[in-house]
Amino acid sequence: PVPIIIDCDPGHDDAIAIMLAAGDPAIDLLAITTVAGNQTVEKTTLNARRVCTVAGITGVPIAAGCAQPLVQPLLVADDVHGDSGMDGPQFAEPTVDVVPEHAVDLMYRILTEHPEPVTLVPTAPLTNIALLLTRYPDAAEHIREIVLMGGSTERGNRTPAAEFNIHVDPEAADIVFRSGVPVTMCGLNVTHQALATPEVLARLEGLGTELGRTCAQLMTYFAATYLRLWGFASPPLHDPVAVARVIDPAIVHCVDASVAVELRGQHTRGATVVDLHQYLDRPVNARVAVTLEPEMFWDRVIAAVEVLGKR
Ligand code: BDR
Ligand code: CA
Repeated sequence: PVPIIIDCDPGHDDAIAIMLAAGDPAIDLLAITTVAGNQTVEKTTLNARRVCTVAGITGVPIAAGCAQPLVQPLLVADDVHGDSGMDGPQFAEPTVDVVPEHAVDLMYRILTEHPEPVTLVPTAPLTNIALLLTRYPDAAEHIREIVLMGGSTERGNRTPAAEFNIHVDPEAADIVFRSGVPVTMCGLNVTHQALATPEVLARLEGLGTELGRTCAQLMTYFAATYLRLWGFASPPLHDPVAVARVIDPAIVHCVDASVAVELRGQHTRGATVVDLHQYLDRPVNARVAVTLEPEMFWDRVIAAVEVLGKR
């Protein structure tokens, strides 16, 4: 299995990404780190503990990270994820606790102690990852790759140009894309192919487990949000796409491209400028996800929820 650390801001889709990472046999989940994004870091950390509790994920350290983006004030997505950051289901009091280390220190320690390079899977603003790379420059040599959910080859979802995770902390994203570490970007253009259709919800409920029902409730809340704000018939489950790319690259097809993060544009700050057609003479610095195999994707997600739900 591929050793990974998931850096997240749960978040409905982050929750499913955690479950996919914990339940799929192709992944060895070494840690869960949290950051401010969809909600404050206090809330996203509580939500990570809630997810691990309901899904029976024990023995995976959870560490809280940055409370603010590197430069600009925090902007949360309570319109998308609710006041708790994970509205919808009723969660029991979590029985899984956090470790006392800062997320960035925990990541660095795991990276340097693990016998093989580790893949980082950020599904949130890139504040923790940027801090890791700047505070511990030698961390890079222990990272196999960074497979992130963020950006888009097309337009955004928080501004016409910017996707939420990049919009919240563009400076952090810029550091990551310019770091020289291999980066795979799973942006909106591909995550909008991961639609939680009524059939998907029925399969989750059909598992007959509490966890299956909780996942269906998460997606039902997300569906209402996506219908209200963007007119989607079914909601896209962004974050698990990055995990799926690590599980089996055949689920998420990528092309090589140069990606730059716009930091100064008057109307376009936070945009990922992806040179798919090589207009510019810039070196390739990323693999960019372009196509998803939805059946393979949902089979893996549902299998992971099934495995965890029976524990
Ligand atoms: C991203 O923004 C967040 O609201 C989701 O959890 C996902 O990581 C999608 O733009
Ligand atoms: Ca997220």
